[in-house]
Amino acid sequence: MLHKLSQLFQKSTKTRHRHHLNEKSSQFTQQVITSTCFWRNPPQLQTIFEQLLPKLQTAKPQTLRLGVHAGSIGCEAISLQMASNYYQFPRPIEIVSTEIDSKAVQKARRGKFEPQHFLEPGSADHTLLPPELIEQFTKRACFNKIQIKQNLLKQIKFEQCDLASRSATLQFGQFDLIFFQNAIVHINPDAAQQCVANLIETANPNSLIFLGGTAGDQLSRLAHQFNLLPLNANNEMVYNGWSWRQSIWGQFPSSHLGMEPFDAQHADAQYRYAHVFALETGRDFWQPFIDNESVAQ
Ligand SMILES: C[S@@+](CC[C@H](N)C(=O)[O-])C[C@H]1O[C@@H](n2cnc3c(N)ncnc32)[C@H](O)[C@@H]1O
Repeated sequence: MLHKLSQLFQKSTKTRHRHHLNEKSSQFTQQVITSTCFWRNPPQLQTIFEQLLPKLQTAKPQTLRLGVHAGSIGCEAISLQMASNYYQFPRPIEIVSTEIDSKAVQKARRGKFEPQHFLEPGSADHTLLPPELIEQFTKRACFNKIQIKQNLLKQIKFEQCDLASRSATLQFGQFDLIFFQNAIVHINPDAAQQCVANLIETANPNSLIFLGGTAGDQLSRLAHQFNLLPLNANNEMVYNGWSWRQSIWGQFPSSHLGMEPFDAQHADAQYRYAHVFALETGRDFWQPFIDNESVAQ
Protein backbone atom coordinates (compact mmCIF):
# COMPACT_ATOMS: atom_id res chain seq x y z
CA MET A 1 0.00 0.00 0.00
CA LEU A 2 2.86 2.39 0.77
CA HIS A 3 4.28 1.72 -2.64
CA LYS A 4 0.89 2.31 -4.27
CA LEU A 5 0.49 5.59 -2.40
CA SER A 6 3.84 6.72 -3.64
CA GLN A 7 2.92 5.98 -7.26
CA LEU A 8 -0.39 7.77 -6.92
CA PHE A 9 1.31 10.76 -5.39
CA GLN A 10 3.72 11.17 -8.27
CA LYS A 11 0.84 11.25 -10.74
CA SER A 12 -1.21 13.68 -8.70
CA THR A 13 1.72 16.08 -8.23
CA LYS A 14 1.79 16.70 -11.97
CA THR A 15 -1.93 17.38 -12.02
CA ARG A 16 -1.72 19.72 -9.07
CA HIS A 17 1.11 21.64 -10.66
CA ARG A 18 -0.93 22.28 -13.80
CA HIS A 19 -3.86 23.32 -11.62
CA HIS A 20 -1.73 25.82 -9.71
CA LEU A 21 -0.46 27.42 -12.92
CA ASN A 22 -4.07 28.21 -13.85
CA GLU A 23 -4.98 29.62 -10.47
CA LYS A 24 -5.09 33.39 -10.25
CA SER A 25 -6.06 34.05 -6.65
CA SER A 26 -6.24 32.77 -3.09
CA GLN A 27 -3.31 30.47 -3.61
CA PHE A 28 -1.90 31.26 -0.19
CA THR A 29 -5.25 30.67 1.51
CA GLN A 30 -5.69 27.37 -0.28
CA GLN A 31 -2.22 26.30 0.74
CA VAL A 32 -2.98 27.06 4.38
CA ILE A 33 -6.29 25.20 4.24
CA THR A 34 -4.84 22.11 2.61
CA SER A 35 -1.67 22.11 4.70
CA THR A 36 -2.80 19.16 6.78
CA CYS A 37 -2.43 15.40 6.62
CA PHE A 38 -3.51 12.19 8.28
CA TRP A 39 -1.79 11.05 11.49
CA ARG A 40 0.15 14.32 11.45
CA ASN A 41 1.67 14.02 14.92
CA PRO A 42 1.96 10.35 16.00
CA PRO A 43 3.47 11.05 19.47
CA GLN A 44 0.55 13.34 20.23
CA LEU A 45 -2.06 10.74 19.25
CA GLN A 46 -0.31 8.18 21.45
CA THR A 47 -0.20 10.63 24.38
CA ILE A 48 -3.89 11.45 24.02
CA PHE A 49 -5.10 7.86 23.86
CA GLU A 50 -2.68 6.24 26.29
CA GLN A 51 -2.37 8.95 28.95
CA LEU A 52 -4.83 11.83 28.74
CA LEU A 53 -8.11 10.19 27.76
CA PRO A 54 -7.71 7.27 30.22
CA LYS A 55 -7.32 9.85 32.99
CA LEU A 56 -10.20 12.01 31.75
CA GLN A 57 -12.64 9.09 31.54
CA THR A 58 -12.23 8.45 35.27
CA ALA A 59 -13.98 11.79 35.85
CA LYS A 60 -16.59 11.53 33.10
CA PRO A 61 -18.57 8.34 32.62
CA GLN A 62 -20.57 9.69 29.67
CA THR A 63 -19.42 9.83 26.03
CA LEU A 64 -16.39 12.09 25.65
CA ARG A 65 -16.85 14.97 23.20
CA LEU A 66 -13.98 16.20 21.02
CA GLY A 67 -14.13 19.54 19.20
CA VAL A 68 -11.59 19.60 16.37
CA HIS A 69 -11.55 23.25 15.32
CA ALA A 70 -9.95 24.94 12.33
CA GLY A 71 -10.05 21.35 11.15
CA SER A 72 -9.44 22.14 7.48
CA ILE A 73 -10.45 19.26 5.18
CA GLY A 74 -10.98 16.85 8.05
CA CYS A 75 -7.72 14.87 8.27
CA GLU A 76 -7.21 15.76 11.94
CA ALA A 77 -10.71 14.67 13.04
CA ILE A 78 -10.59 11.49 10.94
CA SER A 79 -7.18 10.65 12.43
CA LEU A 80 -8.56 11.02 15.96
CA GLN A 81 -11.47 8.73 15.13
CA MET A 82 -9.05 6.19 13.62
CA ALA A 83 -6.78 6.53 16.67
CA SER A 84 -9.64 5.67 19.01
CA ASN A 85 -9.87 2.37 17.13
CA TYR A 86 -6.09 1.87 16.86
CA TYR A 87 -5.52 2.40 20.59
CA GLN A 88 -8.70 0.43 21.41
CA PHE A 89 -10.12 3.21 23.52
CA PRO A 90 -12.98 1.47 25.34
CA ARG A 91 -15.54 4.27 25.31
CA PRO A 92 -17.45 5.97 22.49
CA ILE A 93 -16.21 9.40 21.51
CA GLU A 94 -18.17 12.03 19.64
CA ILE A 95 -16.24 14.31 17.29
CA VAL A 96 -17.36 17.63 15.84
CA SER A 97 -14.91 19.11 13.34
CA THR A 98 -15.35 22.79 12.48
CA GLU A 99 -13.73 24.93 9.80
CA ILE A 100 -14.35 28.41 8.38
CA ASP A 101 -13.92 27.46 4.71
CA SER A 102 -17.10 25.93 3.26
CA LYS A 103 -15.30 24.08 0.45
CA ALA A 104 -12.99 22.44 2.97
CA VAL A 105 -16.03 21.33 4.99
CA GLN A 106 -17.66 19.83 1.89
CA LYS A 107 -14.46 17.99 1.07
CA ALA A 108 -14.26 16.62 4.62
CA ARG A 109 -17.84 15.37 4.39
CA ARG A 110 -17.13 13.62 1.07
CA GLY A 111 -14.05 12.00 2.59
CA LYS A 112 -12.26 11.67 -0.74
CA PHE A 113 -8.61 12.74 -0.59
CA GLU A 114 -5.56 13.16 -2.78
CA PRO A 115 -2.69 10.80 -1.95
CA GLN A 116 -0.52 13.65 -0.66
CA HIS A 117 -2.74 14.00 2.41
CA PHE A 118 -1.65 10.52 3.44
CA LEU A 119 2.01 11.50 3.24
CA GLU A 120 4.21 13.09 5.84
CA PRO A 121 4.34 16.81 4.96
CA GLY A 122 7.32 17.46 2.72
CA SER A 123 7.83 13.79 1.93
CA ALA A 124 7.36 12.21 -1.47
CA ASP A 125 6.50 8.73 -0.35
CA HIS A 126 6.40 8.28 3.43
CA THR A 127 3.04 7.88 5.08
CA LEU A 128 2.66 8.34 8.85
CA LEU A 129 -0.65 6.49 8.99
CA PRO A 130 -0.18 2.90 10.20
CA PRO A 131 -0.70 0.50 7.25
CA GLU A 132 -3.42 -1.46 9.08
CA LEU A 133 -5.50 1.74 9.32
CA ILE A 134 -5.05 2.43 5.61
CA GLU A 135 -6.23 -1.11 4.99
CA GLN A 136 -9.15 -0.93 7.41
CA PHE A 137 -10.54 2.53 6.74
CA THR A 138 -9.68 3.51 3.15
CA LYS A 139 -10.40 2.31 -0.37
CA ARG A 140 -9.27 3.39 -3.82
CA ALA A 141 -11.50 5.89 -5.60
CA CYS A 142 -11.49 7.22 -9.15
CA PHE A 143 -9.07 9.93 -10.36
CA ASN A 144 -6.28 8.57 -8.15
CA LYS A 145 -8.09 9.56 -5.00
CA ILE A 146 -8.51 7.65 -1.77
CA GLN A 147 -11.90 7.35 -0.10
CA ILE A 148 -12.37 7.12 3.66
CA LYS A 149 -14.92 4.40 4.35
CA GLN A 150 -18.42 5.54 5.33
CA ASN A 151 -18.53 3.60 8.60
CA LEU A 152 -15.75 5.84 9.95
CA LEU A 153 -16.79 9.06 8.23
CA LYS A 154 -20.37 8.97 9.48
CA GLN A 155 -19.17 9.04 13.08
CA ILE A 156 -17.87 12.62 12.67
CA LYS A 157 -19.89 15.82 12.22
CA PHE A 158 -18.23 18.33 9.88
CA GLU A 159 -19.55 21.86 10.32
CA GLN A 160 -18.74 25.31 9.02
CA CYS A 161 -17.87 27.81 11.75
CA ASP A 162 -15.98 31.08 12.12
CA LEU A 163 -14.38 30.63 15.53
CA ALA A 164 -14.00 34.39 15.90
CA SER A 165 -17.81 34.53 16.22
CA ARG A 166 -18.92 33.70 19.75
CA SER A 167 -22.46 32.60 18.84
CA ALA A 168 -21.23 30.42 15.97
CA THR A 169 -18.67 28.71 18.20
CA LEU A 170 -21.02 28.13 21.14
CA GLN A 171 -23.73 26.46 19.04
CA PHE A 172 -21.95 23.07 19.12
CA GLY A 173 -22.12 22.69 22.91
CA GLN A 174 -19.48 21.76 25.47
CA PHE A 175 -16.38 19.63 24.80
CA ASP A 176 -13.90 17.56 26.81
CA LEU A 177 -11.00 17.86 24.38
CA ILE A 178 -10.71 21.02 22.27
CA PHE A 179 -8.27 21.17 19.37
CA PHE A 180 -7.17 24.43 17.73
CA GLN A 181 -3.85 23.37 16.26
CA ASN A 182 -1.62 24.68 13.46
CA ALA A 183 -4.05 27.54 13.15
CA ILE A 184 -3.09 30.43 15.46
CA VAL A 185 -0.01 31.15 13.41
CA HIS A 186 -2.16 31.71 10.30
CA ILE A 187 -4.69 34.05 11.94
CA ASN A 188 -4.18 37.68 12.92
CA PRO A 189 -3.45 38.03 16.67
CA ASP A 190 -6.72 39.77 17.61
CA ALA A 191 -8.84 37.20 15.81
CA ALA A 192 -6.77 34.33 17.25
CA GLN A 193 -7.32 35.74 20.74
CA GLN A 194 -11.06 35.96 20.12
CA CYS A 195 -11.12 32.36 18.80
CA VAL A 196 -9.34 31.09 21.93
CA ALA A 197 -11.69 33.08 24.20
CA ASN A 198 -14.72 31.56 22.46
CA LEU A 199 -13.30 28.05 22.56
CA ILE A 200 -12.61 28.32 26.29
CA GLU A 201 -16.32 29.00 26.77
CA THR A 202 -17.05 25.60 25.22
CA ALA A 203 -14.84 23.80 27.76
CA ASN A 204 -16.06 21.57 30.59
CA PRO A 205 -14.27 22.09 33.95
CA ASN A 206 -11.69 19.32 33.33
CA SER A 207 -11.37 19.91 29.59
CA LEU A 208 -8.07 20.02 27.79
CA ILE A 209 -7.24 22.53 25.07
CA PHE A 210 -4.69 21.68 22.38
CA LEU A 211 -3.04 24.75 20.84
CA GLY A 212 0.20 23.40 19.38
CA GLY A 213 1.84 24.06 16.05
CA THR A 214 2.40 27.77 16.53
CA ALA A 215 5.12 30.21 17.54
CA GLY A 216 6.21 29.96 21.20
CA ASP A 217 5.83 33.68 22.02
CA GLN A 218 2.28 33.74 20.75
CA LEU A 219 1.34 30.51 22.50
CA SER A 220 2.84 31.61 25.81
CA ARG A 221 1.12 35.02 25.63
CA LEU A 222 -2.29 33.46 24.99
CA ALA A 223 -1.84 30.85 27.72
CA HIS A 224 -0.94 33.48 30.33
CA GLN A 225 -3.71 35.80 29.19
CA PHE A 226 -6.38 33.10 29.65
CA ASN A 227 -4.81 31.45 32.74
CA LEU A 228 -4.30 28.20 30.86
CA LEU A 229 -2.12 25.64 32.63
CA PRO A 230 0.39 23.85 30.40
CA LEU A 231 0.61 20.10 30.97
CA ASN A 232 3.73 17.97 30.88
CA ALA A 233 2.59 15.36 28.38
CA ASN A 234 5.54 14.20 26.27
CA ASN A 235 5.98 17.85 25.28
CA GLU A 236 9.35 17.53 23.57
CA MET A 237 8.30 14.56 21.45
CA VAL A 238 5.02 16.15 20.48
CA TYR A 239 6.61 19.55 19.78
CA ASN A 240 9.13 17.89 17.50
CA GLY A 241 6.27 15.87 16.03
CA TRP A 242 5.16 19.00 14.17
CA SER A 243 8.53 19.20 12.42
CA TRP A 244 8.66 15.99 10.42
CA ARG A 245 9.63 17.92 7.34
CA GLN A 246 13.06 18.73 8.69
CA SER A 247 14.56 15.59 7.17
CA ILE A 248 13.50 16.76 3.72
CA TRP A 249 13.88 20.52 3.85
CA GLY A 250 16.97 20.84 6.02
CA GLN A 251 17.34 22.54 9.31
CA PHE A 252 14.34 22.95 11.59
CA PRO A 253 12.30 25.22 11.68
CA SER A 254 12.46 25.99 7.99
CA SER A 255 9.06 24.52 7.28
CA HIS A 256 6.90 24.90 10.35
CA LEU A 257 6.00 28.54 10.64
CA GLY A 258 7.44 30.39 13.59
CA MET A 259 8.49 27.36 15.61
CA GLU A 260 11.96 27.44 17.13
CA PRO A 261 14.01 24.38 18.10
CA PHE A 262 12.90 22.89 21.43
CA ASP A 263 15.09 24.22 24.26
CA ALA A 264 14.49 22.52 27.61
CA GLN A 265 16.59 25.24 29.35
CA HIS A 266 14.41 28.11 28.12
CA ALA A 267 12.95 29.99 31.13
CA ASP A 268 9.49 29.81 29.50
CA ALA A 269 9.84 26.21 28.23
CA GLN A 270 6.73 24.90 30.04
CA TYR A 271 4.50 27.38 28.19
CA ARG A 272 6.09 27.95 24.79
CA TYR A 273 6.62 24.27 23.94
CA ALA A 274 3.36 22.98 25.43
CA HIS A 275 0.76 21.37 23.21
CA VAL A 276 -2.02 20.84 25.73
CA PHE A 277 -3.47 23.06 28.46
CA ALA A 278 -5.96 22.65 31.32
CA LEU A 279 -8.21 25.35 32.72
CA GLU A 280 -7.82 26.69 36.25
CA THR A 281 -10.98 24.68 37.11
CA GLY A 282 -9.06 21.52 36.16
CA ARG A 283 -5.91 22.29 38.15
CA ASP A 284 -6.48 19.67 40.87
CA PHE A 285 -7.62 16.99 38.45
CA TRP A 286 -4.62 17.42 36.12
CA GLN A 287 -2.13 18.03 38.95
CA PRO A 288 -0.01 14.93 38.13
CA PHE A 289 0.72 16.51 34.71
CA ILE A 290 1.48 20.03 35.99
CA ASP A 291 4.95 21.28 36.83
CA ASN A 292 4.20 23.42 39.90
CA GLU A 293 7.57 25.16 39.84
CA SER A 294 7.14 26.77 36.43
CA VAL A 295 3.37 27.07 36.14
CA ALA A 296 1.85 30.23 37.63
CA GLN A 297 -0.18 29.59 40.86
C1 LIG B 1 -3.17 24.83 8.53
S1 LIG B 1 -4.88 24.48 8.71
C2 LIG B 1 -4.82 23.43 10.16
C3 LIG B 1 -5.56 22.16 9.94
C4 LIG B 1 -5.57 21.20 11.11
N1 LIG B 1 -5.97 21.85 12.34
C5 LIG B 1 -4.24 20.50 11.31
O1 LIG B 1 -3.61 20.71 12.36
O2 LIG B 1 -3.82 19.75 10.44
C6 LIG B 1 -5.52 26.00 9.42
C7 LIG B 1 -7.04 26.11 9.21
O3 LIG B 1 -7.56 27.18 10.02
C8 LIG B 1 -8.74 27.64 9.34
N2 LIG B 1 -9.16 28.92 9.93
C9 LIG B 1 -8.56 30.13 9.83
N3 LIG B 1 -9.28 31.07 10.48
C10 LIG B 1 -10.36 30.43 11.02
C11 LIG B 1 -11.49 30.86 11.80
N4 LIG B 1 -11.65 32.15 12.16
N5 LIG B 1 -12.42 29.94 12.15
C12 LIG B 1 -12.27 28.65 11.79
N6 LIG B 1 -11.24 28.18 11.05
C13 LIG B 1 -10.30 29.07 10.67
C14 LIG B 1 -8.21 27.76 7.91
O4 LIG B 1 -9.28 27.87 6.98
C15 LIG B 1 -7.40 26.47 7.78
O5 LIG B 1 -8.18 25.42 7.23
